[in-house]
Amino acid sequence: MSFLLELLCSQCGLVHEADRPQTVCRACSKPLWARYDLERLAPQLRPESLRGRSASLWRYAELLPVQDPQHRVSRSEGWTPLLELRRLADRYEQRALWLKDESPNPTGSFKARGLAMAISRALELGIGHVGLPSAGNAAGAAAAYAAQAGLRCTLFMPEDTPRANIIEARLLGAEVVLVPGTIADSARALEAYRRDHPELFSLATLREPYRLEGKKTLGYELFEQLGHLPDVVLYPTGGGTGLIGMGKAFDEMEALGWIGPERPRMFIVQAAGCAPLVRAFQEGSSEARPWEGAQTLASGLRVPSAIGDFLMLRLVRRTRGGAIAVSDPSILEAIVEVARNEGILLCPEGAATWAAYRELRQRGHIRPEDEVVLFNTGSAYKYTEVLEQLL
Ligand SMILES: Cc1ncc(COP(=O)(O)O)c(C=O)c1O
Repeated sequence: MSFLLELLCSQCGLVHEADRPQTVCRACSKPLWARYDLERLAPQLRPESLRGRSASLWRYAELLPVQDPQHRVSRSEGWTPLLELRRLADRYEQRALWLKDESPNPTGSFKARGLAMAISRALELGIGHVGLPSAGNAAGAAAAYAAQAGLRCTLFMPEDTPRANIIEARLLGAEVVLVPGTIADSARALEAYRRDHPELFSLATLREPYRLEGKKTLGYELFEQLGHLPDVVLYPTGGGTGLIGMGKAFDEMEALGWIGPERPRMFIVQAAGCAPLVRAFQEGSSEARPWEGAQTLASGLRVPSAIGDFLMLRLVRRTRGGAIAVSDPSILEAIVEVARNEGILLCPEGAATWAAYRELRQRGHIRPEDEVVLFNTGSAYKYTEVLEQLL
């Protein structure tokens, strides 16, 4: 049973009702957070209570927004493996290196977490037509869950999105509109479409409150799988729902009495060809200016501006982490190094976290005694156009 109470604005704190469709704050247009009755839940839900529950993100049902289990639209997403990278840890003399591998999720990426939640809530709240702008993987996940829920789905993607993303979304029954430019142009095309189709409910990143709730389960899983929180988390960041979601999960866990005020040092990892958050971090700004001429082979990181910029910058500063950009050649090198040493093919976004690890370790921001978690956010097999370059 869900302990959802209401939605709160992440900036101004204004309360919004959770029992009807909501987008962003009606006062300041910033993202909304789901708030749960953690005080009432704390005595009933301990980490030990989770043992034996389903091996999916639905094991955290009390902390998720779906009210009626009948409305769950699910293909067993979440509870993905946390893999130890032992050979690389030995080679780099790192105490512990872990890879949270999100590629086994339905449609092969961590986007399944957020979209399972958003589409379950859309179904629960009586929405019939959903849509979103996507750099690729979110489109496949949205199409799959919309098909399972029987909802109409209209997707807007950059025309140079990896072909596998376009093919899967179309085969899964979504209408796909290809748009020149980046995801920012796709977002504008979606808004223009909505003028003639006002019934379309947009599931765009952080303009809909429940994708964040699905993504936050990454934070709960890390804690459960390790039995504690790691020292360092490296996250490949576009819109940043996973990063913000994990920060929210850690705050909820503290409110539940599972952890104290300690937090992993959280790092934003971006591509050098599109690094608006890294620039803002280095400039000491609280918000990020849009990145001009965004270009990288890590298509999921080609996000020139993010509505949650202020939340991510606040989070990495608060946790004494940071923000780092890595070049496309270093991403390609990282794919090869992890493949040869660990037998794992990373997607380019996941490989960016390995490239970032090497750089941060060299600069002394990561120490040998740290326990480090990297994220492989999706399957490498959707990026054959990129991988072929390495043969
Ligand atoms: C594989 C992959 N990794 C990372 C990202 C960035 O995710 P987020 O927008 O949650 O920061 C994306 C987004 O498209 C992606 O597809």
